[in-house]
Amino acid sequence: MSTPQPICILLGAGGHAKVIVDCVRSTRIAEIVGILDSNPQRWGHDILGVPVLGNDELLPKLKQRGVSHFVVAIAATGNNGLRETLFLGALNAGFGPLNVFHSTAICSPSAHIGEGAQLLPGCILNAGATVGRNVIINTGAIVEHDCVVDEHSHIGPGARLAGHVEIGCRSFIGMGACVRQGVKVGCDSVIGAGAVVVKDVPDGVVVTGVPARFLRKTRSESGTNAEK
Ligand SMILES: CC(C)(COP(=O)(O)OP(=O)(O)OC[C@H]1O[C@@H](n2cnc3c(N)ncnc32)[C@H](O)[C@@H]1OP(=O)(O)O)[C@@H](O)C(=O)NCCC(=O)NCCS
Repeated sequence: MSTPQPICILLGAGGHAKVIVDCVRSTRIAEIVGILDSNPQRWGHDILGVPVLGNDELLPKLKQRGVSHFVVAIAATGNNGLRETLFLGALNAGFGPLNVFHSTAICSPSAHIGEGAQLLPGCILNAGATVGRNVIINTGAIVEHDCVVDEHSHIGPGARLAGHVEIGCRSFIGMGACVRQGVKVGCDSVIGAGAVVVKDVPDGVVVTGVPARFLRKTRSESGTNAEK
């Protein structure tokens, strides 16, 4: 007898949600019944046939109707604090985080993966790497051996972390960026697309370029529709 699929809701109805719907369907790990978003203009629309039902106020009702799991489905490239808020809010409301692993993601058996982490198409998580809760390893990204990616961070499409790199919580590594082995990136920082990071990056800054240099401090945003 097969185990019933968990019933799941997505939080955030932007472009990243489309990728998540695709991944969840292709792996048949859960049934997605709807999407919540703070932007009323998105309500009543659908993403690949999944309806955008309303905002987070619907969570208690959905729980009563048997929804058990959630996925934070925004990419929030500039502010992963928002992804953290959504994650903790859904946990507090009694939902469980669903792990989303695409079938083409390569994950070492010795890697450690936190609850609600997303391993998207073609990414590689190598031996001894650790990713925390609610981390996104996006399409084609490489996280080499013994890296640590802390909670709520996002490794963008095609970004590469060499061995023993550490990424603090809520940081974002832009698409195609490279981080040299052993380098530490702090919390709430953003590495610009295509940057090459050759020395440690402190908390709360944006760096860009080759080699990566300070651009500005990070800003905070709010709302589940913060995705660009
Ligand atoms: C780094 C980043 C966050 C900066 O955004 P921003 O603060 O809005 O910066 P702006 O676009 O106003 O640019 C400010 C300056 O930085 C430069 N700049 C911006 N991004 C840069 C990058 N990735 N590399 C090099 N220079 C960059 C701009 O050319 C501009 O220079 P100027 O002042 O000489 O004209 C953004 O450009 C970026 O790279 N985001 C990551 C995108 C990504 O990976 N998306 C994947 C989504 S899954």
